[in-house]
Amino acid sequence: MDAIRIRGGVALKGNVRISGAKNAALPILCATLLSDGESLLRNVPALRDIETTAALLRFLGRGVTVASPEVRVAAGSDIRPEAPYELVKQMRASVLVLGPLVARFGRAKVSLPGGCQIGARPIDQHLKGLEAMGCSIRLERGYVLAEGPSGGGRLRGAEVVFDMPTVTGTENLMMAAALAKGRSTLVNCAREPEVEELGRVLNKMGAEVNGAGTDVIHIVGSDRGMLAPFDHAIISDRIEAGTYMVAAAIGLGSDVTLKGAEMNDLEALVVKMRAAGVDIASEGQDIRVRRDKPLRAVNVTTGPHPGFPTDMQAQLMVLMTLAAGESVINETIFEHRFQHVPELQRMGAQIALRGNTAVVHGVERLYGASVMATDLRASASLVIAGLVADDETEVRRVYHIDRGYERIEEKLRGLGARVERVKGAEA
Ligand code: EPU
Repeated sequence: MDAIRIRGGVALKGNVRISGAKNAALPILCATLLSDGESLLRNVPALRDIETTAALLRFLGRGVTVASPEVRVAAGSDIRPEAPYELVKQMRASVLVLGPLVARFGRAKVSLPGGCQIGARPIDQHLKGLEAMGCSIRLERGYVLAEGPSGGGRLRGAEVVFDMPTVTGTENLMMAAALAKGRSTLVNCAREPEVEELGRVLNKMGAEVNGAGTDVIHIVGSDRGMLAPFDHAIISDRIEAGTYMVAAAIGLGSDVTLKGAEMNDLEALVVKMRAAGVDIASEGQDIRVRRDKPLRAVNVTTGPHPGFPTDMQAQLMVLMTLAAGESVINETIFEHRFQHVPELQRMGAQIALRGNTAVVHGVERLYGASVMATDLRASASLVIAGLVADDETEVRRVYHIDRGYERIEEKLRGLGARVERVKGAEA
């Protein structure tokens, strides 16, 4: 297994280009199932999760060509509406094929994703919504078996009220509703920019989606039985951008410009980082991040967009390990999202954990260590800690980082960091 080795102590300087958004690309790749013909996705990041989705679409019967940053998806001759456990267990977002498959082909067999490192992550809201659209759902041997009305017929538009905003749940039901008969109204939807982006693509495909990006989405299902193929460039990745913002801010004297990053999507993070003493400015299509004064502690509570993103909690915590004062960090979205805490403690951070709250007391310095984490964002936070720690840090099990950060070591090296990938390091 590869590791990332970092010699800390360099304040980052220069430009880094932000890649396309993983969590926008994944549902959009799945939306190709609603059409035939060839769709072209541009600005797709070269990531393991994209490869996994391509493998899943191929398994289903599609022709997928990945030539980063472009992905082409063509209709194959036959569709096999089944997502096997081997693929779903690699990536929970595979559940995003459920809505499109049952809406388009009348049936789907999709492995239940099961829990993962950051929490139980049920999909009851996805299933409840599909049932409201007339789907019959059975759970059998770890699989969801879904069938359209009267043994595989067309879904019916419905009103669905989510118990909580769910990103992939909202996306699954938007795709299902796009081919259902009549009008659907989805209430208490996730408002993430990735949901809004899926709405834009569905509209390009000929669907009638209104309100994506707000908490109520109206969709009129197409009577044509399928949508049209599309050509679309994916928005930039706000979480990758946020991660480089924190990486930039961790070293005193840094000056980094994020090329092609959208500041509006990062408001909650920007507000907190500014309060912590980081200088952040929007410059056209770019964001410039500088730090020339000591860090101050801020409190953070994660929440659905436009609240503070859970996907940035681990990275912001690293910043707080070096801030003057006490920072209280509340995680409200996932129950086990503090895997970075014991690893940061090994690097000298002072963090006390009480349930879903971490209390961080800033320290003078972090020390390099051999660390690892078993989720994507926690692993990224350890790389950031390594950038500022004394001596050498080795972050193991880098395959988690490769799920969500394109060429992270190259991008960081481009900013002056002393980072290398060690092939086949000890797990
Ligand atoms: N939830 C339920 N029932 C459901 C669905 C969700 O109880 O049927 C709960 C979850 O357990 C959680 C909350 O609702 O407590 C919100 O979860 P959500 O469904 O929004 O998460 P997701 O759609 O599975 C997406 C991102 C995650 C990101 C979360 C929260 C994708 C592919 N994944 O997951 O991204 O953390 O939204 O913003 O879009 C990552 O990129 O590292 C990542 C984990």
